[in-house]
Amino acid sequence: MREELVALREQALRDIAGAADLTSLELARVAITGRSGGLTRAGEQMRHLSKEERPEIGKLLHEVRTAIASALEARGSVLSAAAEEVELSQIDPTLPGVARTVGSLHPLQHLQRRAVEIFRRMGFALSEGPDIETEWHCFDALNTPPDHPARNEQDTFYLPDGRLLRTHTSSVQIRAMEKEAPPLRIIAPGAAYRRDEVDATHLAQFTQMEGLYVDQGVTLGDLKGTLEFFFRELFGPDTKVRFRPHFFPFTEPSYEIDVRAVALGGGERWLELAGCGMVDPAVFAQINDRRGDQAFDPDKVTGFAFGFGLERLAMILYGVPDIRMFVENDQRFLGQFAS
Ligand code: DAH
Repeated sequence: MREELVALREQALRDIAGAADLTSLELARVAITGRSGGLTRAGEQMRHLSKEERPEIGKLLHEVRTAIASALEARGSVLSAAAEEVELSQIDPTLPGVARTVGSLHPLQHLQRRAVEIFRRMGFALSEGPDIETEWHCFDALNTPPDHPARNEQDTFYLPDGRLLRTHTSSVQIRAMEKEAPPLRIIAPGAAYRRDEVDATHLAQFTQMEGLYVDQGVTLGDLKGTLEFFFRELFGPDTKVRFRPHFFPFTEPSYEIDVRAVALGGGERWLELAGCGMVDPAVFAQINDRRGDQAFDPDKVTGFAFGFGLERLAMILYGVPDIRMFVENDQRFLGQFAS
């Protein structure tokens, strides 16, 4: 047995040393240590040994095993290093690399997230409503009478059942007040639709962001402070913001907000960026009627609302000269916003 083991070791070490590549080394390993390999069989023969022989032969068997295992490992690492070297020698490191394009947010999505984040810091929560809206939510509840030009069929997309594609996100104000009672503080970004001729500043589908704050004692001062903060966060702390009296059916008083910023084509100007105002009590009355309660009692609560277009804001902030670029999916344009 002793001689057999010594011979086994010699043969195994020779086979391992002679393996020219990883495949032949693996074949040698199986032939030695596999289920019917020499070493395995030698191990099985141990039980036929006498008690006296067993310790000595056992010790030798252990040594043979260890020697074979370390020879396998040593030869294995030499061979795999060699294989790797061959593989690397076939690569030409002077070839240009394969560029990997990294996805990025659409500029409008990027701006929307920025805007939402600013309002969230002031306690506004996200709210939403359907793009296909009823006339009541889009117009009547917002104190916009049937003869108002916004309701003209030429201006809006109507469905055969009388519903329409919302012309502004102001309908979400109504949806929110139907569901919740004051205090209510929401922002609602989303699509708006108008039957506009598409040109450098108009799309038939665009994006708006609406805001509504209703509580006891909400004042025009709160409205000014909130929106001044918002625009200064976006345009910088020294940005001038101006509230210019205007008219909207659903707010009284109403204002347009101008921001002093660099206009397209250069030069600083007052740029009209948003509409806003104090919620008209007539809107609260519509809501209370619908709800069947006095949750929005105009003698107890007041509110402000605002809305602006995200494309226009993005065009000014990012210097985009044509609104159509936002929907053309041109990677040369979109890639410039990758970060
Ligand atoms: N809905 C208006 C528009 O599309 C924008 C607007 C003006 C929204 C005044 C408001 C507001 O909430 O108070 O032009």
